[in-house]
Amino acid sequence: MTLSKPHGGLLINRVNENYKMKAGIQQIQLDEIALSDLELIAIGAYSPLTGFLGKKDYESVVSKMRLSTGEIWSIPITLPVNEDAAKHIEIGEEVHLVKDEIIYGAMTVTEKYIPNKDIEAFKVYQTTDKAHPGVQKLYDRPNVYLAGPITLIKRPVKEKFENFYLDPKQTREVFQRLGWKTIVGFQTRNPVHRAHEYIQKTALETVDGLFLNPLVGETKKDDIPSDIRMESYQVLLNKYYPKNRVFLSVFPAAMRYAGPREAIFHSIVRKNYGCTHFIVGRDHAGVGNYYGTYDAQKIFHLFSVSELGITPLFFEHSFYCLKCESMASAKTCPHEKEDHVILSGTKVREMLKYGQIPPKEFSRAEVIEVLIRGLQKTYTKI
Ligand code: ADX
Repeated sequence: MTLSKPHGGLLINRVNENYKMKAGIQQIQLDEIALSDLELIAIGAYSPLTGFLGKKDYESVVSKMRLSTGEIWSIPITLPVNEDAAKHIEIGEEVHLVKDEIIYGAMTVTEKYIPNKDIEAFKVYQTTDKAHPGVQKLYDRPNVYLAGPITLIKRPVKEKFENFYLDPKQTREVFQRLGWKTIVGFQTRNPVHRAHEYIQKTALETVDGLFLNPLVGETKKDDIPSDIRMESYQVLLNKYYPKNRVFLSVFPAAMRYAGPREAIFHSIVRKNYGCTHFIVGRDHAGVGNYYGTYDAQKIFHLFSVSELGITPLFFEHSFYCLKCESMASAKTCPHEKEDHVILSGTKVREMLKYGQIPPKEFSRAEVIEVLIRGLQKTYTKI
């Protein structure tokens, strides 16, 4: 067995740092999400995409979770610009993609179109409620979508944990060097708590390696900042994981909080990074009560594993059981709810903010120590 083939068959590479920039080119301003999408398209993490979606692909992704060419794709990757900027752009024109006065990319504009955001919200997020952070973001972004193939001219500077940014081409080389044939990807936007550790290690019992791939792009305000999380991952891996079985590098995408649809997207992207398996636990990529606990697992039944090209590994809601004296889930534990140590993310964040220590059955002491130190520094800065 070899590593998974990239989605669509080829690992896309649209990075060209020697790109000859022409004079007098119009500039399109990118927001944080668009910049991270630009880079992820260029490095092949979003293979087979070669640019921001045109109308046909966009509508097909929104309504059918497929590109117009038929490949599974569940999250629309779009470039929203405001009406004023769009007015001045001709089809066929080359534009520069800019953020904070730095030119990061070029794009040949093949289309500009006005999306129906209500339909996009409803289909992708299953709600048009602006209290949902992904939906809010969708409506906050400008109202015209530009499409076209991109070139990444300049890699965005990584200010923190720069050694942990690996492109799919590089992670594939790492997995090969390590001799791993089966690799399980793990997406997270949180510190790794005991439940995460339990499902990772359970998966690791059956595959060669674990690819811990935390998302470090834009997240909602109350999620724990990525630099603090990264420190906590390293402390945990050093102490509790075998070095030759785990590889840590980051996924610089924005979090969409699209639950089921994002689980499909996360799995395809991890396939592009070289994974053969992908963990989907409880309420993957969910937020609030918008999705059922296992909706992000059920959605996988719409596609065959062979077409998806990566095997999802589903896990029940896991917890520490005081009677079992171990991690468990409803599948493996016969005891009552009162015996289970379960804390919500919100509750834990509250505790950490006030320097309170969540129980060791919930999170390793070493992780908590990093989080408390990191968060207290963050709060004193505010
Ligand atoms: S996510 O937004 O990135 O999905 P999180 O970092 O909390 O959030 O979850 C990472 C992965 O672990 C997801 O697949 C999620 O479903 C799973 N997960 C989180 N907590 C649990 C738990 N207690 N039991 C089982 N799976 C969990």
